[in-house]
Amino acid sequence: MLPEQNLTQPMTTTIPLRPIVPVVPITYQTENDISANRRQELVDLMNQRLASGVDLQLQLKQAHWNVKGPNFIGLHELFDKVSEGVESYVDTIAERIVQLGGVAEGTVRTAASRSRLEEYPLDIANGSAHVEAVSKALSDFGHDARQTILEVTELNDADTADIFTEVSRGIDKWLWFVEAHSQATK
Ligand SMILES: [Fe+2]
Repeated sequence: MLPEQNLTQPMTTTIPLRPIVPVVPITYQTENDISANRRQELVDLMNQRLASGVDLQLQLKQAHWNVKGPNFIGLHELFDKVSEGVESYVDTIAERIVQLGGVAEGTVRTAASRSRLEEYPLDIANGSAHVEAVSKALSDFGHDARQTILEVTELNDADTADIFTEVSRGIDKWLWFVEAHSQATK
């Protein structure tokens, strides 16, 4: 177990980086040579990221469906692309959990109870408001993904670190695509 100060991040949410209530214990025997204790820590951590990822994916769909205004078509299509990108990260994380002998806990209800993201506003419509809300969600998820690289590196799992490096690089790219709509000053 890592020191307490490594388990939480100074964010607006108080939900810890790892679930307080342990996820389903490592369930399946495997010849994978990572120790069971270490695999349990990795599974706990990844199930937390999985919850936020499922939440993020659906927040992007919420934006895709409801955005309005002069940039409608560009944002409508971009938010769908970002949602598809996040869906692929969610799938990769879930399958890594199972590869390590764990249970991927990816139902909407689990995601709702564990996600570290803020609630997506339901009362916004114009493009700039959705750009701001989506940027915040991507930024928060990207923060956790970057933190996860460090945590799983401490657990000597370079493969999971590689997954979260890919995720955080992808999230940074999507954040750029979204924020570019609000960055022009001339
Ligand atoms: Fe659609």
